[in-house]
Amino acid sequence: MGNLQAENASATRINKAPTKAQTSSIGLNINGVTRTFSPSSPDMPLLWVLRDLLGLTGTKYGCGIEVCGACMILVDGQAQKACDMSVSEAVGRKIITIEGIASDPQGKLVQAAWIANQVPQCGFCQSGMIIAATAALKAGKHGAAIAGSINNLCVCGTYQRVLAAVSTL
Ligand code: FES
Ligand code: FES
Repeated sequence: MGNLQAENASATRINKAPTKAQTSSIGLNINGVTRTFSPSSPDMPLLWVLRDLLGLTGTKYGCGIEVCGACMILVDGQAQKACDMSVSEAVGRKIITIEGIASDPQGKLVQAAWIANQVPQCGFCQSGMIIAATAALKAGKHGAAIAGSINNLCVCGTYQRVLAAVSTL
């Protein structure tokens, strides 16, 4: 988790007004497909692009200040908070959101473990949880090591079921 200064910086970024009315067209590789759109600014948070421009609303907006993990996506196989990445930083990277997780070999295993253990309650945090677990599995972690790498917040308190699910991975 970032310190207060980092949180303030991030909050400034995500609330920042567009620097110009419309920037030129940008293409991003998302879930194996090139998606093209015109963000209002190259600084636009990737989270806004995913949810508001591309309709990929499985990636959630929780805190907006790099704390909760609800906005996690995979970028080149690593977990990344989409509220902390600008659209220009995402160019040329391979992005996977929760909508594409079943097409990822490790993501499919995590998804199956989540279903088998009936992990979600309200579900709001769960896409980020699954992304974090998938990234850890991709990094060669298993069981308790995956659990140790997940810092996502869940206000429903599903942590015991998350532990049960990752213990099978
Ligand atoms: S919305 Fe990005 S970490 Fe909470
Ligand atoms: S399942 Fe509700 S916030 Fe985690």
